[in-house]
Amino acid sequence: MTEPVILGIETSCDDTAAAVVCGDVVRSSVIATQLEVHDRFGGVVPELASRAHLEAMVPTIRRALLDAGLDPERPAIDAVAATYGPGLVGSLLVGLSAAKALAFGLGVPFVGVNHLEAHLFAPTLEGVPEIYPRMVLLVSGGHTELVLVTSRGSYEVLGATIDDAAGEAFDKVARFLGLGYPGGPAVDQLASTGNPTAFAFPRALRDRPFEFSFSGLKTSVLRAVALNPMAATEDLCASFQRAVTDVLVDKTMAAVRATGAASVALAGGVAANGELRSRLAAACADAGVPCALASRAFCTDNAAMVAAAGAHALGTRGPDPLTLGPNPGLSLSPGER
Ligand code: KG4
Ligand code: ZN
Repeated sequence: MTEPVILGIETSCDDTAAAVVCGDVVRSSVIATQLEVHDRFGGVVPELASRAHLEAMVPTIRRALLDAGLDPERPAIDAVAATYGPGLVGSLLVGLSAAKALAFGLGVPFVGVNHLEAHLFAPTLEGVPEIYPRMVLLVSGGHTELVLVTSRGSYEVLGATIDDAAGEAFDKVARFLGLGYPGGPAVDQLASTGNPTAFAFPRALRDRPFEFSFSGLKTSVLRAVALNPMAATEDLCASFQRAVTDVLVDKTMAAVRATGAASVALAGGVAANGELRSRLAAACADAGVPCALASRAFCTDNAAMVAAAGAHALGTRGPDPLTLGPNPGLSLSPGER
């Protein structure tokens, strides 16, 4: 049986993305970032994000169809999938409306995708071997969760952050150090030349295996800067990043031991972090557990993961009605719509 060709659309935050996926093969993946729109504000401005999505949506979809070798006027696609939550309501509305209009116009099914579930599908792209049960560390700008995935689309959330998400901590520390938005990539780069033991930042909630806390760590970095105004930014970044990755890697491996998971995967924007990737891969090698690392482009927000999640949803529960609206507060909870 041939796999359906799915057009995925993602507009939950500040990236306008479209992709064409067939089975596990990504035929195209296009991302129009809004970095220059939000940079001077130090974070995403929702109203500006919606307007930028409106401008970028049609050209981005066109590009994705062309890159996939499809005729943008009459694309041979079998369904359109779009993120309907969680995210910024105005941003979600743009992608969702475009997807529904396209599906209606082309007479193909429409399917709404949970953005967090989509992140769980990134490690299924590019032929990365799938071994279940799989422990997925989902680390993004809004979420930090340990998720036990038992098969594609079936999962259980074991625990999450009780305050800031890991990506949020990267962004806040970077903002404080004057490194711009988003902060993760800048901290990642500077940390590579800094001393990770220059500052002894806290590792929180050692005694609560599946829960995380990064708010105290962020405050410690701010305090260290106040006490050491001449401290090298590289050392602050390296010490902060070491504290974050220590906790993320330790808790993921503890969760593997507690559940007997047969493999490990990273998902979400922070999964693009070089130190997290290499340390988790090393810890998995030590434990003899395979580690699936999706390429960086599929870790941060993209539409290929949305198309992959959409294909699964379509095959298991069928299409959604065109009345499906955005759900900004949607969580990672099996069965929630
Ligand atoms: O998944 P994502 O693209 O968007 C959300 O759904 O939140 O994640 C964005 C987050 C931001 O906080 C960003 O700073 C972080 O991922 N990030 C990184 C890196 N690249 C992106 N954090 C650490 N190191 C990176 N290389
Ligand atoms: Zn995301």
